[in-house]
Amino acid sequence: MKKIFSIVLCFSLSLLLPSCKRKKLTEVVEVPLPSAEEKITIGQPDDVSAIDGQFSLVKLPYEYNALSPSIDILTMEMHYSKHYLTYTNNLNKLVAEDPTLIDLSIEDILKKCDGTNADLKNNAGGYYNHGLFWEGMSPKSGGQPKDTLASLITRDFGSFEVFKTQFSDAADKQFGSGWAWLVVDKTGKLQVTSTPNQDNPLMPKQIVSGTPLLNLDVWEHAYYLDYQYKRKRYIDNFFKIINWKKVSERYEEATAKK
Ligand SMILES: [Fe+2]
Repeated sequence: MKKIFSIVLCFSLSLLLPSCKRKKLTEVVEVPLPSAEEKITIGQPDDVSAIDGQFSLVKLPYEYNALSPSIDILTMEMHYSKHYLTYTNNLNKLVAEDPTLIDLSIEDILKKCDGTNADLKNNAGGYYNHGLFWEGMSPKSGGQPKDTLASLITRDFGSFEVFKTQFSDAADKQFGSGWAWLVVDKTGKLQVTSTPNQDNPLMPKQIVSGTPLLNLDVWEHAYYLDYQYKRKRYIDNFFKIINWKKVSERYEEATAKK
């Protein structure tokens, strides 16, 4: 209301006082150029390395821009080189301080994450979840799974579309930060679930336990730069870049161990 009043007042005065109008027309608005520090530069995935320790970064199997437009280049760079790197470095520091964790695989560490050590749970989860996430996506992929995995999805969900709806709902309805998952449980059945924070289905006390086959990061850092509040659109576009070949390999590996 104030703004409208000011505009009307200025317009009225401009009729009476030509100087008011002249001043607006000649007004110069200076827009500062970004400094060298502020200039956005995009690095390369291979430029990123974790501190020396038990765990290395999973190598990003594509360039930062490879998943665009589903995931934009800046989101990928920040996610991999900042968020993922931080989880990895923190995990390496925690493992170095705890002799009971030395030489354990990440899966065995996750099985010990019952919540008594929140730092370990968050950073071991962050390390594992993101590594799985990077490899579960690929440029020029998406579509639907084939062969065994396609049959299993039909067997356990009824159809691919039903699975897609369940997975999308799990991702969309996860309150706050977390992940959506497709897992194979100990009976060999495929299940969809979601977890808060950096929890995952390998940790104790989860609603659904199983071996992860596919996951989707729904922390805001995974999509907010490009999608803002439109998480659903991000989820829809994720289906265009799922690496179903990798998901099938994970199923084969998980069931071969049993
Ligand atoms: Fe993330």
